[in-house]
Amino acid sequence: MDGERFAALWGSLSSIGKAPDGGGYLRYAWSEADLACREWFTEEALDRGLSVEADGNGNLFAWWGSAEAGDAVLTGSHFDSVPHGGAYDGPLGIVSAFLAIDLLRERGREPNRPIAVAAFTEEEGARFGVACLGTRLLTGAFDPARARGLVDRDGVSLARAMADAGVDPGALGADPERLARIGAVVELHIEQGRALADRSAPVGVASAIWPHGRWRLEFTGEANHAGTTRMGDRFDPMLTFAFAVLAANKEARLKGAHATIGRVSVEPNATNAIASRVNGWLDARAADVPTLDNLVGAIMTRIEERSTRDGTGFAVTVESISPATEFDAVLRDRLVAALGGAPVLPTGAGHDAGVLSAVAPAAMLFVRNPTGVSHSPAEFATDEDCTAGVVALADGLEALACQ
Ligand code: GLV
Ligand code: MN
Ligand code: MN
Repeated sequence: MDGERFAALWGSLSSIGKAPDGGGYLRYAWSEADLACREWFTEEALDRGLSVEADGNGNLFAWWGSAEAGDAVLTGSHFDSVPHGGAYDGPLGIVSAFLAIDLLRERGREPNRPIAVAAFTEEEGARFGVACLGTRLLTGAFDPARARGLVDRDGVSLARAMADAGVDPGALGADPERLARIGAVVELHIEQGRALADRSAPVGVASAIWPHGRWRLEFTGEANHAGTTRMGDRFDPMLTFAFAVLAANKEARLKGAHATIGRVSVEPNATNAIASRVNGWLDARAADVPTLDNLVGAIMTRIEERSTRDGTGFAVTVESISPATEFDAVLRDRLVAALGGAPVLPTGAGHDAGVLSAVAPAAMLFVRNPTGVSHSPAEFATDEDCTAGVVALADGLEALACQ
């Protein structure tokens, strides 16, 4: 395995869903780009003699060995991106999984428990708002009826998007039989920080995921003329929203946590009109649940006080909550040993492996990202480090599934 081989398979996927002018990737769940990625997945799996199946949630599985045998080691990740996201967040785990299988075969290894490569649906929640929607549905952590009604920014429901893609939304939901086949999960992912760069290590192993969540904050007021409405006569939800952005930042700093409002929608969105409604989406994360609860509580209290002063309405909708994940210590230590030692790091980013850790021992490998930038077109890993990731994944799968 070398950088050129990695680059060849990586290159076969890299034109799909690319935004013009270096603007990263637009690979939303069930979009044309997503369907093209799924086609790529099926072709790569069939080329390798793997059998391909989908669950009712659109999660794809390619099997080396019998899908029914049980105690499988599942690897893979997701194709979908945030708006104008980087190339690596998600797809690196899928490309690396196929290459790791190639490498195991070249080593003459045969798995004694099945190995599945998975491509999970809507991990980013960039289209329908709920992070890790595919694995939440699969594990029964999200209600399928509610999922069918989720809408994207254009008002298209998940049910409609799936039906348009030729997939039955009636089949959404928990699949305990399929889950029961999985004995362990190992997701490889680009690192979304600089810990590996700081340690001069190409590959690391995850210890934990910070608890985190998403809240839609709705601010309502009164649309009126920007030129004729006296400043004292306004009920301007933009003011409450602006305060919310600053309050979230301040409270997160005070509590050693992270809070971000990176998405906003405004009505009527006119230069010369006071807004009538503003929606802002809060993403908050902390090292432990009490700190996260404290952070969100403090932000909401400060916004409520401000909205009273502004005479605006304020309502909160929880979009998704992810509990703290402690990855399985035994699996983690086996991976570290198989790699001949590797840094062990926690992360503030959410992953399908975190959701799946509720139903099977789960672990993650991270590949060095020299700048740590992610969810941006600047996200990057060298072909050499990605190759080291493939070798590490192959070593891990060999230790778990070929002994
Ligand atoms: C996924 O990348 C997330 O942490 O939001
Ligand atoms: Mn991501
Ligand atoms: Mn990801």
